[in-house]
Amino acid sequence: MKKIAVIGTGYVGLVSGTCFADSGNQVTCCDIDQLKIKGLTEGIMPIYEPGLKELVHKNVRKGSLKFSANISQEIKDAEVILIAVGTPMTSSGKADLTYVKQVAQSIGENLNSYKVIVTKSTVPVGTGKLIESVIREYDNGKHPFDVVSNPEFLREGTAIKDTMNMERAVIGATSEKAFQLIAEIHKPFTANIVKASLETAEIIKYAANAFLATKISFINDIANICERVGADVTEVSTGIGLDSRIGNKFLQAGVGFGGSCFPKDTAALLHISEDCGYDFKLIKAVIETNEGQRVQLVKKLLLALGSLQGKTISVLGLAFKPDTDDIRSSPALDIIPYLTEQGAIVKAFDPIAIVEAKKQIGYQCTYSEDIYETITDSDACMILTDWQDVKTLDLPLVKHLMKQPLIVDGRNLFELEMMKQLGFTYLSVGRPA
Ligand code: UGA
Repeated sequence: MKKIAVIGTGYVGLVSGTCFADSGNQVTCCDIDQLKIKGLTEGIMPIYEPGLKELVHKNVRKGSLKFSANISQEIKDAEVILIAVGTPMTSSGKADLTYVKQVAQSIGENLNSYKVIVTKSTVPVGTGKLIESVIREYDNGKHPFDVVSNPEFLREGTAIKDTMNMERAVIGATSEKAFQLIAEIHKPFTANIVKASLETAEIIKYAANAFLATKISFINDIANICERVGADVTEVSTGIGLDSRIGNKFLQAGVGFGGSCFPKDTAALLHISEDCGYDFKLIKAVIETNEGQRVQLVKKLLLALGSLQGKTISVLGLAFKPDTDDIRSSPALDIIPYLTEQGAIVKAFDPIAIVEAKKQIGYQCTYSEDIYETITDSDACMILTDWQDVKTLDLPLVKHLMKQPLIVDGRNLFELEMMKQLGFTYLSVGRPA
């Protein structure tokens, strides 16, 4: 049992803190946001993540998990401190380390015994060393400590499962003692421990996300070729994915990737490469292809309708993927404003992300949690998120409710033959129209 303080109660901090509490440690999740801490203490989750609320409640009742806004005190009491604060993208695409540096300063000011400081946040190479120097400066070199880079690989929507059954834990430590300690707390979750240097662990995180993003942009480029030559990208994915060297995951063509990670991390990796004098052409192309996918989808709609002026478009899905209310870099954020600029009347559906979406998109469209109400009387329907509600639509009813049966599908959810038989004009990605 280790005493762990987690600083930052976003996805990564809250999920990993709760899972470490569940596996037998004593955990305090801390945040400077007093309201967030008050809410968590009262059992209110700041994010939507399946299974999280139940696991938090279970561990709070057990006494292994608590919440605090008194970060200084929690730093003093802990043996292990996890830094899980945000590293948002600056306007230039670089990772903003302001919060990470503030936490490092606070750790330095409150260090009172040997502690292991772990970075869970995705940070550019060299940040571990920077954290070490900031802590040393504010501690005046009085206490021993080690810094560890232990990047997080959980996905939103399956975060608990991903943490409890992680495929690997990457541990980049500055000492064997720190490595052993962090390896020990990961043993309940995985047998695959990858030992690395600080810098290597930092690069592993970016390389993993950039590789997955590359797979998506690659299959989207193939989809665009398929459209031009009359081939079907879903069959191409199956055909190449059965080769175990390629694998069948992350080969779903569509509207492109969004979320808080891939867009931010590919941009940050590009900066890392530029900063060290390397021209990473491949990652530039991955970003460019991804931005282009949103445009391609809108072009299909424009081509089918001629003009969007006065047309009612129902948009299905605001979240960047299902099972989350996260709308960061979601395709809907680019597509809805474009549609309204073109004079369209937009009705948007999402089962849980409407509150978040309103903060960004505002009132340029109407919102509904009722999918059929959203579709009613629309000239076209655009599918942007593969929610279960969308996948299981009663298509004959949809056809009956729409003004004209036009579906532009950014997630390739339905069989072409079936849509043809139902009488839809069905435009998807990388498949014959
Ligand atoms: C991603 C990684 O998958 C996690 O391993 C990582 O820990 C996380 O980023 C992070 O850095 O924190 P996440 O952003 O939650 O996780 O979501 P994914 O499930 O990876 O999906 C990302 C985007 O790619 C979504 O917009 C999704 O729709 C899109 N996608 C995914 C595709 O367009 N096609 C695919 O085949 C797969």
